[in-house]
Amino acid sequence: MRNKIVAGNWKMHKTAVETKQLLNELIDKLPNDVEAQIIVAPTFVNLSLAINVLENSNIAVAAQNMHQAEAGAFTGEISASMLTNIGVQTVILGHSERRAYFHETDALLAEKVNTALKHDMNVIFCFGEELKDRQDNQHFNVVENQLRDGLFHIENNAWEKIILAYEPVWAIGTGETATPEQAQEMHEFIRETIRKHYGSDIAEDVSILYGGSVKPDNAKEIFSKPDVDGGLIGGAALKAEDFSKIVEGIR
Ligand code: 13P
Repeated sequence: MRNKIVAGNWKMHKTAVETKQLLNELIDKLPNDVEAQIIVAPTFVNLSLAINVLENSNIAVAAQNMHQAEAGAFTGEISASMLTNIGVQTVILGHSERRAYFHETDALLAEKVNTALKHDMNVIFCFGEELKDRQDNQHFNVVENQLRDGLFHIENNAWEKIILAYEPVWAIGTGETATPEQAQEMHEFIRETIRKHYGSDIAEDVSILYGGSVKPDNAKEIFSKPDVDGGLIGGAALKAEDFSKIVEGIR
């Protein structure tokens, strides 16, 4: 049985003081009778703080990125062991902002995935087409290629560490959400693609999250689709009330 998951990607938002405040609000406000795994991904400098504040909660902490090398002369970068050493067991890889602004390629992401798995970390692997791809009716091809080149080298037994996040670039931060039908259509395609490469058990067990302008008023409908197992939330994860309402939508 696959897990339902709601994850908040805080991107480059929230100082330490603001992080503590938002986390305490989440501890207060998040429904505790919802059967979903809740994850928050603050910026690197606040990960330790988040781990401490959330120590006795059910909320897990993820990093937004990491470097593929074990260690070395990579000024400004963060390694897998730096993360696991402070208690971070999950990392977001391949976010479209990393791909677009920091030139992360599928080949690089494949290396990052390997490093994360070597350190026994969970990976939230992000991918999704741009607007032009969809207009050209290439969205299925683009997604299939991103999965094949970034992820489909992993062994069968590594899939238990993988969470997928389909995030169409045109829906991120734009207020333009994929319709629940568009999300379901793509998630079904993703699951089918995994089935072809890895078989039914893995395809059925992997959680596929939708990301892109998920808000309190559209979350429930998107989450109600059979192949949508939760969401990766950007802007609306920055307000405890909105994030809590989104988590309510997973019931
Ligand atoms: P928004 O929810 O702000 O569109 O961002 C989605 C996202 O990029 C999550 O990783």
